[in-house]
Amino acid sequence: MSFTELNFDFDALLASHSYREPLVIGGVRCHGGYDDCGNYVSPRTLNRVPAIRAWQERYRKDFGYPLLDRAMEDTPPNYPNVAQAKFLLRNGIREPMIRTLTRIGTVEGFGASIRFGAVEDIQRHFVEDLSGTATAHLTRGLYEAHARDEAGFDDEAGHKQMWWAARDIAFENPPVEDLAAEMRRAMGMPAEPLPLAEMMRRMAEQAMADRLLPADVDPMLEAQLARMARLLLIEINAFHTFVWAEAVLSDTSLVAGDGDPARIISFIRADETPHVEYLKCALSEMRERTFRGASGRAYPGRELIEAIWQRALATSARRGVEGRNAELAEITAALEGNPRRDELLEEFHALGDLRPGPDGQWVAIQDASGAN
Ligand SMILES: [Fe+2]
Ligand SMILES: [Fe+2]
Repeated sequence: MSFTELNFDFDALLASHSYREPLVIGGVRCHGGYDDCGNYVSPRTLNRVPAIRAWQERYRKDFGYPLLDRAMEDTPPNYPNVAQAKFLLRNGIREPMIRTLTRIGTVEGFGASIRFGAVEDIQRHFVEDLSGTATAHLTRGLYEAHARDEAGFDDEAGHKQMWWAARDIAFENPPVEDLAAEMRRAMGMPAEPLPLAEMMRRMAEQAMADRLLPADVDPMLEAQLARMARLLLIEINAFHTFVWAEAVLSDTSLVAGDGDPARIISFIRADETPHVEYLKCALSEMRERTFRGASGRAYPGRELIEAIWQRALATSARRGVEGRNAELAEITAALEGNPRRDELLEEFHALGDLRPGPDGQWVAIQDASGAN
């Protein structure tokens, strides 16, 4: 791939490698496949990955400024941590882990909507030419490839089904609940999926209610940027979840499947890298450019993207706490009726990085013991 190749059409960005063997899990054809050496190759990455690399290289050359990013160390570790999750499994408490895997698969499936709601012609909202950028390719393959990776497409399963497959192998087809309505509610969405037109109407309504940028900037563009920033933080945080799930699900003394569940998660993790990289690249490109309002007035991208990013960081921190509260509520519920409930719960907290403090706030474990 030469540095000059910066423009791709839709089909090129969705093209996959030719695999020696497709990825089939439990008889289900999944996306991606194996190369001649038997290594897993992510779907739709033949041109998408080199394209993202080329756009990022161009960005660095043009602006000499690092990409918008959030270091993994600045994001909270998974709750419960590996030791806590293994402790629960060792004591026969499997339900919280099974529900977590169901929930993650469910949310991956919501990724199907990434393809909807983008502004028609993003160039018209910017002063500078956007050709040869990730931003110009968002609706020319990047969103579509992302949506297909998460939710599957046609007869190929995606991450949604892959997480569920990992769960079913690890826990030998446990009884599972449909958690879609619960997850939609937790994410502020209506409990039932909406027809596309109604979803678009509500997205527009929401965009008007959530204004942060000057009124002159298209509210649908603002909503799109806010979604991208939120999504990027979710994708970055998710790497903690992958590391955690791989560590727990590779323990063959605790789960079935001879390590296959962890291998499936490692494939999903590989597929996620282009999601993080294109979102970082496009948001960074827009940050270094000038937005054009409906009146023709110019706005520095730096101010607008920074405002969007800061709000997304605050939302992410809030959701992190809500997520921990929900996990703990579920674990506590799973221990209900257990004669060793209090003892198990205390041992569980003692293994954690964080635990609920006396005032309901989460505190680092060394803080809780007064050691720090
Ligand atoms: Fe995913
Ligand atoms: Fe993703």
